[in-house]
Amino acid sequence: MIKLGRNDDCWCGSGKKYKKCHFEFDEKLEHYKRMGARVPDHKLLKTPEQIEKIKASAAVNIAVLDYVAEHIKPGVSTAEIDKWVYDETVKRGAIPAPLGYEGYPKSVCISVDDIVCHGIPCEEEILQEGDIVNVDCSTILDGYYSDSSRMFLIGEVSEEKKRLVEVTKKSLEIGLEHVKPWGYLGDMGQAINDYATENGYTVVREIGGHGIGLEFHEEPWVSYTSKKGTEMMMVPGFMFTIEPMINMGKADIFVDDEDGWTVFTEDGLPSAQWEIQVLVTEDGYEIISY
Ligand code: MF3
Ligand code: CO
Repeated sequence: MIKLGRNDDCWCGSGKKYKKCHFEFDEKLEHYKRMGARVPDHKLLKTPEQIEKIKASAAVNIAVLDYVAEHIKPGVSTAEIDKWVYDETVKRGAIPAPLGYEGYPKSVCISVDDIVCHGIPCEEEILQEGDIVNVDCSTILDGYYSDSSRMFLIGEVSEEKKRLVEVTKKSLEIGLEHVKPWGYLGDMGQAINDYATENGYTVVREIGGHGIGLEFHEEPWVSYTSKKGTEMMMVPGFMFTIEPMINMGKADIFVDDEDGWTVFTEDGLPSAQWEIQVLVTEDGYEIISY
């Protein structure tokens, strides 16, 4: 961190003098850092201008998921949904972030039943009555990133699977209540893990959320099996995803070794996931994408 003079322009780009802007904030960060806390770098904190651009990206991401919500139904292939996502994104002047990301071949991840995440859309996979489906959309607009996912129930779904989807959503909402400036990511992680396990489910350990905004996946990696009072501190301007994967059976997972992407539950039981993108504010949080 470069030490700024009190009369220098603030690092945040507000144009205000440092002493009138982030001076006290930095003192506080330094204080927590000395006490051993992990605090975000300045480069992870979004400026108001960046937040506006990220929100514009998120507006596309939300619209694309809304489109999917209106059209998804039994008999549709996951390849068709991939095409909807591509077309609805591009027609709004944006790019689907997954396409070509580390070699990922499609525009969206679609994960049905025992697929935990990163399911690759294909022609042969036809949605059936009773499926639970995660559609995970991510968008780049003007170089800024947004990312969120929702679950969809296809036709009549068993009470068992419906409950998994509902508890997963509720766990995310409970986690969100723990997003507060000067709190810890572990406060949120533990709240999610506690709620899921109290309901008889397990939380995937190996895959988590991430910082986001200027890149698809920024620091830090975000766990939903963490302990309160641990992990990175949440401070105003910090942006990340909450995206717990909750399994009906055991927490163990494996990655398909043929495609290198698709993640399955080891026991073949269903898994659910919801994802939102969140900004930490002065007095709590703001949901950026859902
Ligand atoms: N959207 C996923 C996430 O929530 C990332 C998928 S990477 C991809 O972080 F390449 F598979 F798209
Ligand atoms: Co994500």
